[in-house]
Amino acid sequence: MKQCQARVLDLVEVKGGFFSLTLYEPYLAATARPGQFIHLRVGSGVAPLLRRPFSVAGADPAKGTLHLLFRCVGEGTKLLSRSREGELLDCLGPLGNCFISSGAEPAVLLAGGGGIAPLIFLAESLRAAGRELYLFYGAAKSADLLPLEQFLSPGPVVKYATEDGSAGEAGLLTAVFQRALAAGLFPGELFACGPRPFLAALAQQNQRRGYPLQVSLEERMACAVGACQGCAVLIRRNGREDYLRVCREGPVFQSTEVVW
Ligand SMILES: Cc1cc2nc3c(=O)[nH]c(=O)nc-3n(C[C@H](O)[C@H](O)[C@H](O)COP(=O)(O)OP(=O)(O)OC[C@H]3O[C@@H](n4cnc5c(N)ncnc54)[C@H](O)[C@@H]3O)c2cc1C
Ligand code: FES
Repeated sequence: MKQCQARVLDLVEVKGGFFSLTLYEPYLAATARPGQFIHLRVGSGVAPLLRRPFSVAGADPAKGTLHLLFRCVGEGTKLLSRSREGELLDCLGPLGNCFISSGAEPAVLLAGGGGIAPLIFLAESLRAAGRELYLFYGAAKSADLLPLEQFLSPGPVVKYATEDGSAGEAGLLTAVFQRALAAGLFPGELFACGPRPFLAALAQQNQRRGYPLQVSLEERMACAVGACQGCAVLIRRNGREDYLRVCREGPVFQSTEVVW
C-alpha cells in the first residue's frame, strides 16, 4: 500500500448517477487485486475531510490504468463526479485483502446493486485465466443496472434480475439464484458483493448446500488502514468471536465466519 497521485484520464456518467472513472497510476494498476479497494481524497479543498473508499473495478498494468465505478450518493461522490481530466487525485491503496479462487468450476459471482464493481474486476481476471463463469446481477429496477457489456469481455454467462421485473428475471437476486440452482446449476465456488441484507440472505440460503462463499463487506470507513476500528465487524474464526476490521482483515470474508 502507498499514497499516490492518480491522474484522471476519463470520467463519464454511464447511466443516471453511475460514473465510470479511469485513473492513471502505474503502481496501483500493477498491484491491485480483485476485491481490494482504494481510499480516495475527493475534491481539492478541506471538505470533506475524510477520504472515500472505492473498490477497484479493473486494472490494466500494461497501460498503468485503474478503473472505478461509483454511484453518486452524497457530498463526496458528487465532488468526485466533478473531477476534471488531468486532475490529480490523492489516493491510498491498494487496501484490504482480495478474493481467492480455489479453481473449482464454475465460479459463480453474485452482485447486488453497487456491489458489481469488484466483481467486474474478479470476472475479468477469472475469464483471463480461462475459467467457466456465471454472473448474477440484480437491482430494484432496470434503471439501477449498469450495462455490463461496456465493462466485461465476452465469456461469462450473465443473468440479470430486477425486483420489479423491468429487466431480466423478476424477483430478488437471491430467489433468481435459487431458481438457477434448482434448475441444475452446480457452482464450484461463489463470490458475492452487495448490501449486507442481501449477503446475509445469501449466506443463510447457502448454509444447507454449503458451497464455498466469499463475501465482500462494505462498512463506513474513516482511516481505512486499520487504525480507528471504525469498520469492525463480528467474525467467528477458529471457534472464537472477535471484531475484525473490514479495511484490514477484509473486505472479503468467508460467509460462514461472518456473524450476520
Ligand atoms: C470497501 C468499500 C468499497 C466500496 N466500493 C464502492 C464502489 O466501488 N462504488 C461505489 O459507488 N461505492 C463504493 N463504496 C461506497 C462508497 O465508499 C460510498 O458510497 C461513499 O463513501 C459515499 O460518500 P459520499 O460522501 O458521497 O456520501 P455520504 O454523504 O458519506 O453518504 C451518503 C449516503 O451513502 C451511505 N454510505 C456512505 N458510505 C457508505 C458505505 N461505506 N457503505 C454503505 N453506505 C454508505 C450513507 O449512509 C448515506 O446514506 C465502497 C465502500 C467500501 C467500504
Ligand atoms: S476504517 Fe479505521 S480501522 Fe477500518
